[in-house]
Amino acid sequence: MPTIQLTVDGDAVAREVDARLLLAHLLTDVLDRSGVNVGCDSTNCGACTVLLDGRSVKSCTVLAVQADGCEVTTVRGLAADGEWHPLQTAFRDCHALQCGYCTPGMIMAACDLLRATPDPTDDEIREGLEGNLCRCTGYAPIVAAVRQAAAASRTEG
Ligand code: FES
Ligand code: FES
Repeated sequence: MPTIQLTVDGDAVAREVDARLLLAHLLTDVLDRSGVNVGCDSTNCGACTVLLDGRSVKSCTVLAVQADGCEVTTVRGLAADGEWHPLQTAFRDCHALQCGYCTPGMIMAACDLLRATPDPTDDEIREGLEGNLCRCTGYAPIVAAVRQAAAASRTEG
């Protein structure tokens, strides 16, 4: 079996993995990262979204071996020096979660959206998050939260 080395939320990780192991299952089953949820296992829901070298990916569509040498960030890696990321604060402030199952993936997808588009319109937010489903259908507060986080990030920046 191949051995891979990667960084997960700042931690160096080396593991021997089955060549067929998905990154989502490496993160959840092997590395016990509770900030990654698996909803569909088939690229539909986005609950498993993480950043791979800064770009959002659905980790159930990526083989663990493809992450060899990469930097993976889950929602647990977003806070810095004990301070929440503006998206985490905004999701709390805007009540943008109900059961919370979609929330880590939504936040990671929104992270990449704001990297590419720091001042998005509501339509751009909806388009940027269209690959992430919320079974509680709380889309309006999610859009509001991303809007708030974008404004806060621009102010901080
Ligand atoms: S679990 Fe990966 S997209 Fe649903
Ligand atoms: S808050 Fe329940 S799935 Fe989105």
